[in-house]
Amino acid sequence: MSRRRQPSNQSEAFYAHARLYDLMFPGGGPAVDFYRADADRQGGRVLELGCGTGNKLIPIASGGQPCVGLDLSADMLAEGRRKASERGVAVEWLQGDMRAFDLDRTFDYVFITANSLLHLHEVEDLVSCFRSVRRHLAPGGRFVFDVFNPSVRLLVEADGVRRTRDSLSFVDPDRGDVSVDVAETYDAAAQVTRGTWYLSAGAEPDFVVAPLEIRSIFPQELPLLLSLGGLQLVERFGDWSGLPFAADAPRQLCVCA
Ligand SMILES: C[S@@+](CC[C@H](N)C(=O)[O-])C[C@H]1O[C@@H](n2cnc3c(N)ncnc32)[C@H](O)[C@@H]1O
Repeated sequence: MSRRRQPSNQSEAFYAHARLYDLMFPGGGPAVDFYRADADRQGGRVLELGCGTGNKLIPIASGGQPCVGLDLSADMLAEGRRKASERGVAVEWLQGDMRAFDLDRTFDYVFITANSLLHLHEVEDLVSCFRSVRRHLAPGGRFVFDVFNPSVRLLVEADGVRRTRDSLSFVDPDRGDVSVDVAETYDAAAQVTRGTWYLSAGAEPDFVVAPLEIRSIFPQELPLLLSLGGLQLVERFGDWSGLPFAADAPRQLCVCA
């Protein structure tokens, strides 16, 4: 189904811990509300690329829309499949690479959320992904994605020092309290933040040590990348509330056709 090239990123080991991912980043919140309402307004068939464990897709599918989720990680898909079946929700889960895929059908609503797109670091991978999206959009279809809005000040603060992120700590039913430390550097030439994530429980320090690397897409390059992929940026919001995008917005929430 998909053309498997060089790994798109160094982050696959991170997503091998799907159950821990869900504990660290529990679903719900305004992103779910936004995509659920937006997909519902659009109607028809839905495709999520980089769907992970289905934190956005399962709520959309529970409303009755036919949903397909594509992800590179077998572990994330397995957890998504398990959760959907537990909730009695129908989702088609496909393992594939968003850089190049051919599902032999079109969709009315295609989306990529939670910075998943930023696992594509090379310009050619982003453009190839957008071309694949375009081929899968039904007439009148809508492509929506969100990526963070890079703050130069925050990027340069990535000094390689390991620090605890209190906001990410969680309770694992098997291990008890889990703390999360992250050490990051910013590779300005590649526009990639290279991180190492450390998960520790009382009796098990560093039971997970995994790299996680995400690109920055700067506001002025974003419409150009889309147009190289045959897509057009129709609207860009700065947050889930629909505020227009501005320099200090936390994210770029992009609506494309
Ligand atoms: C931050 S998670 C987001 C998961 C889900 N969308 C959510 O909102 O919880 C990023 C996901 O992108 C997937 N991913 C990374 N590179 C990919 C690629 N080239 N093709 C498909 N999926 C990819 C990862 O396996 C992971 O599940």
